[in-house]
Amino acid sequence: AATLLAGLGPSAASAAGLTVGFSQIGSESGWRAAETSVTKSEAQKRGVTLKIADAQQKQENQIKAIRSFVAQGVDAIFLAPVVATGWDAVLKEAREAKIPVVLLDRDIDPSGKDLYLTAVTSDSVHEGKVAGDWLAKTVGSKPCNVVELQGTVGASVATNRKKGFEQAIAGTPTIKVVRSQTGDFTRSKGKEVMESFIKAEGGGRSICAVYAHNDDMMVGAIQAMKEAGLKPGKDILTVSIDGVPDIFKAMIAGDANATVELTPNMAGPAFDAVIAYKTKGTAPPKWIQTESKLFTAADNPQAVYDSKKGLGY
Ligand code: AHR
Repeated sequence: AATLLAGLGPSAASAAGLTVGFSQIGSESGWRAAETSVTKSEAQKRGVTLKIADAQQKQENQIKAIRSFVAQGVDAIFLAPVVATGWDAVLKEAREAKIPVVLLDRDIDPSGKDLYLTAVTSDSVHEGKVAGDWLAKTVGSKPCNVVELQGTVGASVATNRKKGFEQAIAGTPTIKVVRSQTGDFTRSKGKEVMESFIKAEGGGRSICAVYAHNDDMMVGAIQAMKEAGLKPGKDILTVSIDGVPDIFKAMIAGDANATVELTPNMAGPAFDAVIAYKTKGTAPPKWIQTESKLFTAADNPQAVYDSKKGLGY
């Protein structure tokens, strides 16, 4: 921190004068669109100038965006890394230019740990565990065949949410993940993959539960189940992650059972960390962890849905 701040007096980088470049993944889900919108409003609140680059799901676009932010001499870079590997070279360039990088909502491989200032993320293994624990508790000793919709291949959150869920059900041999495939965190792919699961599982009759790594894929899966004449939320249990308004709507309609909430406000703590670092030289903790809270259809989904308004959704 001392070297990065050399030459900067406490008032040399006031919050109002800061420019932050944000390499965002894209807009694959309702949660991500909310994150983008919250990042804009949190920047505005603090008088920070924000430059957003939408990578359209491609790591190469994120690398280009980071290089362009470095060339523009921004004060800090926020990166939501689409996948966990392949960042070392470009993050070294940012470090050489003395530009701190903050990871938002996803991690990179441990080899890159020295290349960023802090990461604002949930514990995504824990999220999978919360989902798996809910299912284990709900089905008890009843045999249960689960189909899993994974997030983007290579994304830290997809790897970790899978791992956490597997850990949670490991002690319950009657629960089995019988099919698992990526739905790329999108509603349309979630629907398409669920249709293929239903076909492969005798019209869906042998499926007891769907676990989706995000709510958008679950909303697509719910659509697929309904079109196949199945009753999601009743005959087939659902558990997913994010807590977007549409999953609460599905709970209100009786079509969904549970979600693990992920706040779309990663940027607020990230801006505060960067401002304290640039203005006072205060180094943030390496990990700023956000909460992972379980909501079920029994937890007044209407009230939760109503409370989501104005939170970027
Ligand atoms: O990294 C967070 C995940 O990315 C969200 O759960 C998902 O909706 C998004 O695409």
